[in-house]
Amino acid sequence: MRKKLPLPSLIALIGLCLLPLSANSIGSISTMVEGEIDMDFMQDVEDTSINLTDNITQHNTDSILTDAKELAAAFAQIEEFYIAKGDAADAVELSRKSRELSQKIIQQVDSKDFDSAAASASELSRTCKACHNFYRDS
Ligand code: HEC
Repeated sequence: MRKKLPLPSLIALIGLCLLPLSANSIGSISTMVEGEIDMDFMQDVEDTSINLTDNITQHNTDSILTDAKELAAAFAQIEEFYIAKGDAADAVELSRKSRELSQKIIQQVDSKDFDSAAASASELSRTCKACHNFYRDS
């Protein structure tokens, strides 16, 4: 079953939901409220995850750690976005899973286990697709 949640209406909805959050959360999510989750934000996520995969292949530890931290932070924001929006349990779960996989990659690379990190990165890209199947029109 595919759910259609066009982002512009999501953004309108969460604008209201965000009011009670702390100033700090508003700062981090306001980019999404203004519409950046759709294109620029997700495009950054995409670019970072492509870099991450390349860097894992090349065992570039420092770059992997930078990318994985960036993704973990991005998915923490996406998770908050869907929690604030409400009625999007699948998206919350998939953002959380993506954040946890990003953090797992950090641990795996810290212990020089690049094969496991590569497996986590593949699982991460399947998680991207799972969320897009639920929430994207195309
Ligand atoms: C929790 C849900 C969720 C997860 C997880 C997720 N996305 Fe998205 N993504 C979306 C939604 C929703 C849109 C659509 C915005 C729209 O169509 O208006 C989107 C759009 C995109 C786009 C299109 C942006 C554009 O310019 O049209 C790209 C690229 C993308 N995501 C990449 C990724 C990648 C790569 C990952 C995983 C590393 C990922 N996404 C994980 C929800 C998610």
